[in-house]
Amino acid sequence: MLTLPLIRELVLDRPVADCFRYLADFSTTEQWDPGVFAADKTTPGAARAGSEFALRLNVLGRSVPAAYRLVERDENRRLVLEGSGPGFTVVDTLNFESLGPAQTRLRYEAVMSWDSVPARIAPLLKPWAERLGDQAMTGLTRALTEDGPESLPRRERIAQKLVVPGMVAFTRRGWRTQHSRGLSRRMDGRTVAVTGATAGLGLAAAQELARLGARLILIGRGSERLAAAMQAIRDFAGDCALHAYEAELSSIADTERLATRLLAEQPAIDVLINNAGALFAERGETPEGHERALAVNLLTPALLIKRLEPVLAERRGRVINVVSGGLYLQGLALDDLDYERGEYDGSKAYARAKRGLLALTRLWAEDETRIGWHAMHPGWAATPGIAKSLPAFDRRMQPFLRTPRQGADTMVWLASHPAVAAHGEDSVGFWFDRAQRPDALLPGTAVDTATAMSLEADVRLRGGW
Ligand SMILES: NC(=O)c1ccc[n+]([C@@H]2O[C@H](COP(=O)([O-])OP(=O)(O)OC[C@H]3O[C@@H](n4cnc5c(N)ncnc54)[C@H](OP(=O)(O)O)[C@@H]3O)[C@@H](O)[C@H]2O)c1
Repeated sequence: MLTLPLIRELVLDRPVADCFRYLADFSTTEQWDPGVFAADKTTPGAARAGSEFALRLNVLGRSVPAAYRLVERDENRRLVLEGSGPGFTVVDTLNFESLGPAQTRLRYEAVMSWDSVPARIAPLLKPWAERLGDQAMTGLTRALTEDGPESLPRRERIAQKLVVPGMVAFTRRGWRTQHSRGLSRRMDGRTVAVTGATAGLGLAAAQELARLGARLILIGRGSERLAAAMQAIRDFAGDCALHAYEAELSSIADTERLATRLLAEQPAIDVLINNAGALFAERGETPEGHERALAVNLLTPALLIKRLEPVLAERRGRVINVVSGGLYLQGLALDDLDYERGEYDGSKAYARAKRGLLALTRLWAEDETRIGWHAMHPGWAATPGIAKSLPAFDRRMQPFLRTPRQGADTMVWLASHPAVAAHGEDSVGFWFDRAQRPDALLPGTAVDTATAMSLEADVRLRGGW
């Protein structure tokens, strides 16, 4: 049997409680350890002694399953985890020491044992294990302290300009190559409203935000789906403050009702995430007479923003509009917003509506500077929405798609990171993988201010705001 001990010590510029809480949920390893492809907490509720985690380890590029159990949790002092996988066991001991209100010393000790590996090859394996340990500590330091906006390497800036090569980054590979993937900024005391919180990216974002301590307003359709989402969020994050609101977000009237209720019952909203969205294969109109993709992807998010704007401004809050990388292929069709001319193309209608939402995000950022205005796109993630609206794409791309948690990363980061507060250069932007991106890449797709104002007038008329 071969046993290798590994010890590392880090000084992190974060309070001990933040470091401890982040690491106690060992499923965050997928955000910081390059030796981990994926990690899930399989025991419902907050991480406590006895909680179990299922990991997919990255062993020389191969995905190897491992099971971990949190065996000791001594608040802000010590965590002990035992893990095992095919032929190996590991014990991780993390000791935390507060060095002041904003600094923590972390001592990370891992003892790895392989049953059938002879002890004499220790000198061969040791450098490999040491390298893994160093990479993990670099990742952890980044996750907790170097998690500000990303600056893109030149290679990626060029690829993105060429549109299609840039789309390689839409896969999970793009997420993995971010400088930092850590989501550790606490949101205690802040309230986030998320539309489309019952599935896909919205649900994943809500789970992660709840783990960070946010109070959540979940907006969805169907009380059963909302109840199931609340359960999934509590299973992921433990006890948290959740408020559910039902609304059909292709309907102006229903969105208006929702806004009225929110204004009456939720006086303090810090972040609005307009995540609900849909792509339709066939053209259809809502009972109010708007083309469906336009209604759900542009008209109702705009109405919700306009109604909640005063509350968000008072709180120096943030708006996060979830759009799509597909907008790079489309400009606005101001004279045919309802897509009445030509053969209907669902992807085009969707991309045009998302393009419109991006244009209005930019316009409103000029008017109301007390709010941080953001649009983001999530890349390509495996969600019920993608499976339903683009089944062939979903099947073909399955191994490359992001998980919903990975797709929701930039949404959660925009909601939680101090660098994107309501003032400063990063308080406004169009983001993908935590980096500012250009609004338009192809000729004829950019929207100038005059056009955005005309769009706003039309959207306002339809939304009645
Ligand atoms: N997944 C991707 O790769 C991808 C790529 C680019 C952009 N996006 C954008 O990311 C956002 C989330 O997408 P997703 O993939 O997570 O989609 P999803 O799996 O279909 O989830 C969408 C969520 O929005 C809700 N929703 C849809 N239409 C609604 C309506 N009319 N009224 C109320 N709620 C409605 C859904 O509710 P139900 O559960 O009731 O259906 C669900 O909770 C969307 O804006 C989408 O355009 C996703």
